[in-house]
Amino acid sequence: MSTPSAPDFQQRFQSPHLEDPYPLYERLRHEAPIHFSEALSLWVVTRHEDVRAVLGNPGDFLSANAFASPVPPPPEVLEVLAQGYPRLPSLVDADAPYHTRMRAIVSRALAPQRVGALEPRIRELATRMADDFVPLGRAEVVSRFNFPLPARVIGLLLGMPDADLERFRVWTEDMSLLSGGNLPVARQVECARSLVAFQHYMAALIHERRQVPRDDLTSALVATRPEEGPPLEDAELINLVMGLHFGGHETTTNLLGNMQVMLLREPERWKALRDEPTLLPRAVEEAVRLDTPLQGMMRTTRRAVTLGGAELPEGARVLVLFGSANRDAGTFQAPDRFQIRRPDTGRHLGFGAGIHYCLGAQLARLEVRVAMEVLLARMDTPRLQADKPIVYLPNFLHRGPKQLYLEWEPR
Ligand code: HEM
Repeated sequence: MSTPSAPDFQQRFQSPHLEDPYPLYERLRHEAPIHFSEALSLWVVTRHEDVRAVLGNPGDFLSANAFASPVPPPPEVLEVLAQGYPRLPSLVDADAPYHTRMRAIVSRALAPQRVGALEPRIRELATRMADDFVPLGRAEVVSRFNFPLPARVIGLLLGMPDADLERFRVWTEDMSLLSGGNLPVARQVECARSLVAFQHYMAALIHERRQVPRDDLTSALVATRPEEGPPLEDAELINLVMGLHFGGHETTTNLLGNMQVMLLREPERWKALRDEPTLLPRAVEEAVRLDTPLQGMMRTTRRAVTLGGAELPEGARVLVLFGSANRDAGTFQAPDRFQIRRPDTGRHLGFGAGIHYCLGAQLARLEVRVAMEVLLARMDTPRLQADKPIVYLPNFLHRGPKQLYLEWEPR
C-alpha cells in the first residue's frame, strides 16, 4: 500500500501542517492509512485500530533501535561522547527479555506512593516559579514555567540536591538540543559535553546511594531485589535514568503548552476549569488525546507482517502515529473537539499501550494537574499575545509550542 498519490508525510514539517498536522492525518487515514513515506524512509501507520495492533504485538514489531539516526554524529561529537558511558538501550528502545527485567525494576522504583508523595513539592515549585513571573502580567511561559518545572521534578525524583538543580536544568536543555539535531558542530560539541557531564554526575550519585541509600528513585533502582536478577551496572543505571529523563521531560513540557493553547482558544474553558477544578484530571486526559505530546514512535518488523491489509517486509521501519490514532472518527465521537466530559477519552493512545505503556503516566498527570491548578488560581483572563504567533517544534515525534507568549491579569 505504498500509494504514490498519498499526501507525503514530509509536508508535516511545513506550514500549515507544522502548526496543525491533524487535517493531513485525516487525509492519510482515509487515502493511505498505512503508507511508505519516501521522505522519511518509514512506513507510517495512522488508524487507531492499526496503531493498537502494532502496540499489541511486540513480538513482531520490535522497539530496539527506535532512535537510530540515519546521520551519524560528527567526529568531534563522537570524541566527546567517548569520554562518557556507552549508550545502552533504555526501556522504550528495548525488547524482551532485557525490557521485561528492566521494566519490572523501574515500575517498582516508580511506585505510586513515591510519585504521589511528590505532590506538595511539585506545588511548592510551581508556586515559586509562578511568583517570579505572574505579577509581570505577560511572559513567554515555556521558558519560565513549562520547561523548568518538569526538569526540577525529575531532579527531585532522582534525589538530586536542590543546589544542583540549576546545573541539571542546563544539561537537560543541552541534551534535548543534541537529540533534536540541526545545530552547528561547535554547539553540538558543547551539548555532548553536557551529556557526558550528566553521565558522570549520575555515576557519582549512584555510587553515593550504593553507600548510603535514601528514599529516592536512584536508591530504589540501585537496590535490585534478588528475584530481579543481578544488580544493575553503572552504565545500565545511567541509561535507565537518561531514558526516564528523555521519556518524561519534553513530553510533559509539551503537554503543558498544548493544554494551555487548547484552553485559551476558547476563553470560557479557563473559567470553567477554575470554577470546577475537579474536572482538571479529565481535562488533562482530553488534552493528551486531542493534541498528543508524543505524536508517534518507531518500531521495526521482526519478519514480514500483514497489517491492515498492507504487506510490510521483514526489517521495515514503522512509525506508529498516536497523534493520528487519537483523532480517528472510527473510535472517537467528534474527534477534533475538545470535550472534557467525553465518554471515550479513555481509549486514547497518547501514553501508548501494551508492554511499553508509559511508566510515567501517573507522574505526568500529577505534574500537569498541579501546574494548571497553580496557574488557574493566579491568572485572570489569560490570552495569547496577539503579535506573537505560536511557533511549534519542527519535530515529528514531539509536538508542542517552542515558545508561547501569554498575557493576563494577575490575581
Ligand atoms: C505527558 C507526558 C508524557 C507522555 C505523553 C508520554 C508518552 C509515552 C508514550 C506514548 C510511551 C510509549 C512509547 C512506545 O510505545 O514506544 C511512553 C513510554 C515511556 N514513558 Fe512516557 N510519557 C510522558 C511522561 C513520562 C514521564 C513523566 C516519565 C518518567 C518519569 C515517562 C517515562 C516513560 C518510560 C520509562 C517509558 C518506556 C516504557 C517502556 O518502554 O516499557 N513518561 N511514554
